Amino acid sequence: CGIVGYIGDNEATELLLTGLEKLEYRGYDSAGIAVMNGKEIRLTKVKGRISLLRDRVGDNNVSGTIGIGHTRWATHGEASEINAHPHQSNTGRFTMVHNGVIENFEELRDNYLPNVELQSETDTEIIVQLLEKMYGETKDVLQAFQKTLIELKGSYAIALIDKHTPDVLYAAKNKSPLLVGLGTDCHLVTSDAMATLNKTKRYVELEDKETVMLTKEAVIIQKLNGEKVDRKPFETELDSDDMEKGTYPHYMLKEIDEQPYVIRKIIQEYTDSTHRLKIDEKISKAIQQADRIYIIAAGTSYHAGLVGKQLIEKLAEVPVEVHIASEFSYNMPLLSENPFFIFISQSGETADSRAVLVQTKALGYPALTITNVPGSTLSREADYTLLLHAGPEIAVASTKAYSAQIAVIAILANDLAEQKGCNISFDLDHEMSLVANAIEMLASQKEEIESIAASIFHKSRNAFFIGRGIDYFVMQEAALKLKEISYIQAEGFAGGELKHGTIALIEEGTPVIALATQENVNLSVRGNVQEVAARGANTCIVSMKGLNKSGDAIVLPEVHELLTPLVSVIPMQLLAYYAALHRNCDVDKPRNLAKSVTVE
Ligand code: G6P
Repeated sequence: CGIVGYIGDNEATELLLTGLEKLEYRGYDSAGIAVMNGKEIRLTKVKGRISLLRDRVGDNNVSGTIGIGHTRWATHGEASEINAHPHQSNTGRFTMVHNGVIENFEELRDNYLPNVELQSETDTEIIVQLLEKMYGETKDVLQAFQKTLIELKGSYAIALIDKHTPDVLYAAKNKSPLLVGLGTDCHLVTSDAMATLNKTKRYVELEDKETVMLTKEAVIIQKLNGEKVDRKPFETELDSDDMEKGTYPHYMLKEIDEQPYVIRKIIQEYTDSTHRLKIDEKISKAIQQADRIYIIAAGTSYHAGLVGKQLIEKLAEVPVEVHIASEFSYNMPLLSENPFFIFISQSGETADSRAVLVQTKALGYPALTITNVPGSTLSREADYTLLLHAGPEIAVASTKAYSAQIAVIAILANDLAEQKGCNISFDLDHEMSLVANAIEMLASQKEEIESIAASIFHKSRNAFFIGRGIDYFVMQEAALKLKEISYIQAEGFAGGELKHGTIALIEEGTPVIALATQENVNLSVRGNVQEVAARGANTCIVSMKGLNKSGDAIVLPEVHELLTPLVSVIPMQLLAYYAALHRNCDVDKPRNLAKSVTVE
């Protein structure tokens, strides 16, 4: 979910709506705003997208210079107008939006609110009703707010307005991200600076278990015990131009096309004064102390981690384990004596990954975050950060961040290998430049790839992506891309494993896409293709130049065998894009998903 709050000289409504449009990547199943005018609060909520909220607000004649807004990815309670935020206390005095999950909400409800009639199924309503109760005891809004927050277990970024103090916007944070924006004629709170760039580039970070009171003139940060906090603002490097789609029909296509630029940008950012690709010496020194690296990530970032393991093990000869964050945190494996943790996260906010970071930090282990977002939670809380420099990624399905993650890990692996004196047979700088050119060539073959997508996925309900070794990892990402945006059920499979069960699913016309970029498994993968073709599959082979045979559907320009994922993923992203497009799916905002999942 995403939240935004405004207090200033101008009408709040438009600002909240444009802010929420920018936050829609955080969830978009329902939305709402509350705007206060004098002592009157106008609440508008919808089940659906911000565009619907905008239409509804249009009929509602909403005016006022203070307000809060929310775009939701449902956790407690179905996506409905009633469960949409903002939520109000029963007297209508307090109105609140919340991002996060309150784990003890049932306990709070039973202990404190047994006789309160609740309107929604949300955990958020418990907070605002509890606040009303606490106010009855303290008769001071901020104190009541702080007392309420002390009772909460879980994560929250909250913005609150009170009918009786119409000149104050209250907010608080624990675990979920929240920034305070300092405009020239206003103050703001937002889950992401991206949402309020049209008002300011200056922000103050809130830390966990802090509250903030914003008036038009002042910003007062306090800890939950009332102790004041003084914190300097920073200027965000985000640029609102980077967030525009330009002439592209979808962000996803724009971001696919940006990948050569991203690779070149990474080369530039990581080249040191001696013209070598390097990472911060502190980081490589810290990793050298480790006997094993643990990569923790979710979704597409997990798939980048699988490729990252290959790169680090093959180049730097350090053993690496890759774990799904949400599994690791509840089922920690036996760790080595000196582990080093690498968290890969485009957003730097994924709650599942953060939960692991909190655990491993408590155990005293060092951690590095590889992220696209400077100042994000995972970046702040880890010991070290490596940035992706991919620019804002807006489409929910990740493309350029995946490539950037692999490119940065390649640099890390290469640097570690150099430090250790391993025998490296290639010039990474040169090889990465070849990769950028190869991506450019593939991205110019859109028409061809579109017609392959049209013929292979036409009417199919499922699809298989097979590969061996590093290609298998890319195919897991390929399958995820297709699932996410076209809703075709897809599986990324190890070519040799198919015959041990899954081949039973192959029917006449089942699409099977095979990837062959590695010489040592080229013939075996082709053997697997024969096996499924003999059972009626509609096969499509994507191969690396040099390994190609006549009849291969797509031939990839040749790049170093360890860097092939950066190139082979491009047609897979495009196949998914065009499959979704032909099915009239909402490419940038697929159903049920959110780009940044800040709940566990
Ligand atoms: C969500 C998104 C995925 C993403 C995953 C991890 O589930 O829908 O596209 O890969 O989170 O996100 P992160 O920001 O940690 O890379």
